[in-house]
Order: sequence, then C-alpha cells, then structure tokens
Amino acid sequence: MMVVLQTQNLCKSYGQVKALDDVNVYIEDAQLLAVIGPSGSGKTTLLRSIAGFVELDSGKILIKSKDVTNLPPEKRNVAMFFQNYALWPHMTVFENVAYGLKIRKYDKNTIRERVEWALDFLDIRSLAERKPSQLSGGQQQRVALARAIVIQPDVLLLDEPLSNLDAKIRMRIRFELKALQKRLKIPTLYVTHDQEEALSIADKIAIMHNGKVLQVGTPEEVYKNPVDLFIADFIGVNSVVKVKCAGEKLVEVGNLKLPVQKETVYVVIRAEETKVLPIQQRFDIAEGDLRLEGTIIGKLYLGSKYRYEIKIEGVDEVLFINSEEVYNVNEQVQIISRKGNFFIYEQ
Ligand SMILES: Nc1ncnc2c1ncn2[C@@H]1O[C@H](COP(=O)(O)OP(=O)(O)O)[C@@H](O)[C@H]1O
Ligand SMILES: [Mg+2]
Repeated sequence: MMVVLQTQNLCKSYGQVKALDDVNVYIEDAQLLAVIGPSGSGKTTLLRSIAGFVELDSGKILIKSKDVTNLPPEKRNVAMFFQNYALWPHMTVFENVAYGLKIRKYDKNTIRERVEWALDFLDIRSLAERKPSQLSGGQQQRVALARAIVIQPDVLLLDEPLSNLDAKIRMRIRFELKALQKRLKIPTLYVTHDQEEALSIADKIAIMHNGKVLQVGTPEEVYKNPVDLFIADFIGVNSVVKVKCAGEKLVEVGNLKLPVQKETVYVVIRAEETKVLPIQQRFDIAEGDLRLEGTIIGKLYLGSKYRYEIKIEGVDEVLFINSEEVYNVNEQVQIISRKGNFFIYEQ
C-alpha cells in the first residue's frame, strides 16, 4: 500500500479556538477516508488546509511524499467539492467542467478529450450545451463532480457533498459516489457529520472532536471498539446510562457489578442492537450480557417499530430504544444488551 496523502501534526487556531489540534491522518492508494464529527470539530478546516486555503500554525502536508505545505492551491493537484458548490450560471456544462483545465493552461484538444471523458464518466454528456439553470439538482451535482474529477486530481476532497439533497436522493447518490470513487481509484477524503453515511461508504473513518482526531479505524473497528465515551455515543443510535458512584468500589448496573475508580460510570448501549422484553418473560443471559429492568414512560410510533422511552431504576437518564413489540406506557420491561453491544467508560 502506498500512502498518497499524509498530514503531520497539523495545528491551526482561530483566536482561542483550536480548529486543528495535532491532526495526523493518511490515505493509502484508492481509499476513501471519511472524517466525521459534530459541527465545529474542525473537519472543514482540515479539508481546506489540504487544499491549500488555510495558513497552518504548524505541521506538514505530504502528497505522494512531496511536501506541499507551502504551495498555493493551484500548485497542488487536489480537487475540492464543497457542500454549497456553485456552477457558473453564465457558462454551459461543458465550459463549467473545462474551466479547471483552462486555468491550468491545457491545450484545446486535451481539454475537449478530458471534459468528454468526465462527462461520460458521470453520464451527462447529453447535457454538455445546457446552462446550470436548465438542470435538476441531481444533474447539477453531477456536473460539479465532473468539474472536480476532470483535472484527475491526486486527492479528491468532498465536504458534506450530499447535505443539501433530500433523504431519498442522498441514499442513491451515496451508492453512486462510492461506486464512482472505486472506479476512478482516486484517494478521497470525505467529510460528513452523518455517521451512518460514513459507516456505509468509508474504507476508514477518522472521528474528530474539538480539533482532535480521537480514533481512526475501519467502520467495523470504530463501531465495535469505540475508544471513548464521545465516540461510542456519536457512532450508532445509542443510549447512555449514567451512574454516579462517588466513593464506591463496585457499582451495580443491572445484573453487572463493575469495579470503578472514578466518579461516574457511563454505560453506552447500542439501542439498535438491544432487546426489550416483557418483565416476566424468561430469558437466559450469557456471561457478560447486560440486563436492566425498567418502566416504559413514553412511546412513539415510527411505522415499522416503536421508539420507547424507558426509565431504569436507580438511574437518572432515560433510555431510548426501538422495538417492534407493542408495550404500553407504565408497563415493566427488561432490556437485554449482549456482550459487545454495550460499552462501559469511567470519567
Ligand atoms: N476562518 C475562520 N475564522 C474564525 N474561526 C474559524 C474559521 N474557520 C473555522 N473557524 C472555527 O474553527 C472551528 C472548526 O470549524 P470547521 O473546521 O468549520 O468545523 P466543521 O467543518 O467540523 O463544522 C469552529 O469553532 C469554527 O468556528
Ligand atoms: Mg464543515
């Protein structure tokens, strides 16, 4: 595997805010690295740094082993696709896609060849003479993508590319983008705040929080082994149980007795992997499984299932868990989470 893009100890502050705090990520070969994190965690700053639009306080950026840290954007062979991409309204689709090649001073024939290749790649050659105002949202998105890939970049940077599409189209384009990236074999850094989107398309995921990369791993690794409370809670549809235990050595959470050093124990339960059963139903749990008892205090109908709000005895936080079974408010239930589907942290 060859490392195509590497950031080394990137730091960038805006006043008191550390937008990038010692960020190290890399992309190998044609991989797609998804960078996720809540709003304000530094994702866009990371992307803009790689593209050359941010003056870093310190750190290095290497593309194909070459130090590009001090090169201007046009000297880096990097394409960036923004969340609020805009096509030039006065130019045709062809001219929009050709623009990046023109400013890089390619000759006319090469430009025509490359633009036609990009338009074919995205299946929009028939739209070449149209103006952006004559295109649907999805078509505009494709043109913008063609414009990004036409320069045959070493690295493709996508900043929440699907965030202004409606849910149905977003799902479809998500698959298309993944297939496109695999066919093009362009190393890609894909920023999103949507953990489900990241899990479904990434080869690897980097999770950012307050300018720091907290964990990097395959989707399976970060889903199954989140290294801290923040990540466990951010990935997946979770419910957090918080148990205060000042001075105690052993705290009981449901059937489990947990040794504790710190003040608070958090149990993050993957709500999507959790069973809700009637309280009297016999259920044999295995070693290491978690069993809690609680009372249904709220109920939402979601179509194929219900979302239950459940109060656990002796615990302040309520749990939110989906189930296909029908329960009534005030009913007693047991909640079973198998070993590996819940995580315990101390803070
Ligand atoms: N040009 C800027 N001037 C001042 N603060 C900025 C600037 N760009 C980003 N920030 C701040 O840096 C932090 C990270 O921002 P950003 O990288 O846009 O986060 P994200 O893309 O994850 O939402 C935020 O607190 C943001 O307000
Ligand atoms: Mg952003």
